[in-house]
Amino acid sequence: MFSTSYIEISRSAYKNNIKYLTSVAGKNVVFSSVIKGNAYGHGMEHIIPLAEEAGIRHFSVFSAKEAYAAYQITSPDARIMIMGHIDHDELEWAIEHDIEFFVFDDDRLGKAVSEAKKQKKKAHIHLEVETGFHRTGIEYETLPDLMKYLKCNQDHYIFEGLCTHYAGAESLANYLRIKNQISTFRQFSRYFSRHGLAPRLKHTACSAAALTYPTTIMDMVRFGIAQFGYWPSPETQMFRFKKDQGAGNDKLKRLLSWKSRVMAVKEVEAGQFVGYGSSFLVNKKTKIAIIPVGYANGFSRSLSNTGRVLIRGRRVPVIGTVTMNTLTVNVTDVPGVEKGDEVVIIGKQKRLSISIASFCEMSNMLNYQLLTRIPSDIPRTIVK
Ligand SMILES: Cc1ncc(COP(=O)(O)O)c(C=O)c1O
Repeated sequence: MFSTSYIEISRSAYKNNIKYLTSVAGKNVVFSSVIKGNAYGHGMEHIIPLAEEAGIRHFSVFSAKEAYAAYQITSPDARIMIMGHIDHDELEWAIEHDIEFFVFDDDRLGKAVSEAKKQKKKAHIHLEVETGFHRTGIEYETLPDLMKYLKCNQDHYIFEGLCTHYAGAESLANYLRIKNQISTFRQFSRYFSRHGLAPRLKHTACSAAALTYPTTIMDMVRFGIAQFGYWPSPETQMFRFKKDQGAGNDKLKRLLSWKSRVMAVKEVEAGQFVGYGSSFLVNKKTKIAIIPVGYANGFSRSLSNTGRVLIRGRRVPVIGTVTMNTLTVNVTDVPGVEKGDEVVIIGKQKRLSISIASFCEMSNMLNYQLLTRIPSDIPRTIVK
């Protein structure tokens, strides 16, 4: 295996999530699978085939670099959309390969049109408009000039989409801001139709928006975190719990399990410290197990003396500091732990589980952050 830990990705969990999210969005709505950040840490090369198996043919990425990686894997009829960064030479590649991309300023629009002219092709553009997120997006005041430019250059682009992104639809605290964004988007949309320019698709929703604000769904949804089985926030989960009516019906199932094996076990006498420094003092004879996963492998150092893993179906605490390549757990109360035993870092073992959410709470990280930090070189396999 040549790795100290491994990741399993569940095909049935993914299928389940796509079925549920499709029922939320509606059958005629395009499902764009957001696979930026190496498919939220799951591995693009695994998620793209699973998504295609589930009938998905639209993928969203952040950069041209990610689009290039996705392009090597997707089938010929799939579409790839870049929502963020593209360099000038990358734009040339994108147009040549019919990659769709967000346009949020004159500079990119001008370069796209001139590159399309040069290649005698059409650029596939999604105009991203500023509705209140204040990251990227075309400002309303610039529309008259933009409209002139778009009308003069209609032969050189396909108006694939009119879109925006919400500033935290997963949190009730942002309710008014999101509502304002929805109405500002409508204003933009009306402006374009008044001027006779209609996009193929209007799309604004990410997971949280689609799950909690149905009017944001429109023609396409850019589903990221939810397809991997995570609720964007506990509020989103509670909202759906009520809406989907049914006790215990967690509609999303997590795909990812992260596992390792016990590398060594030993006993430490009372009065000794475990690991570097003096953060853990043994107060009675203690059996410890060493796991070959440390902060260089994505297990945060902040989990020193606080993290938990599962061994033999029991939750065991991390003791001492997490080192670059190892962590140590106290297995005194778990009978029979030995070298080679399975260790679950994230996922289920017998009746217990460690979720990304609890892992995040322990290490004070966002689930998005934690997932995308899992090193890409840990081998991933698809399981049932
Ligand atoms: C523009 C855009 N759309 C969609 C998404 C997907 O969001 P989520 O993972 O919350 O579904 C993101 C992610 O940050 C994004 O930046």
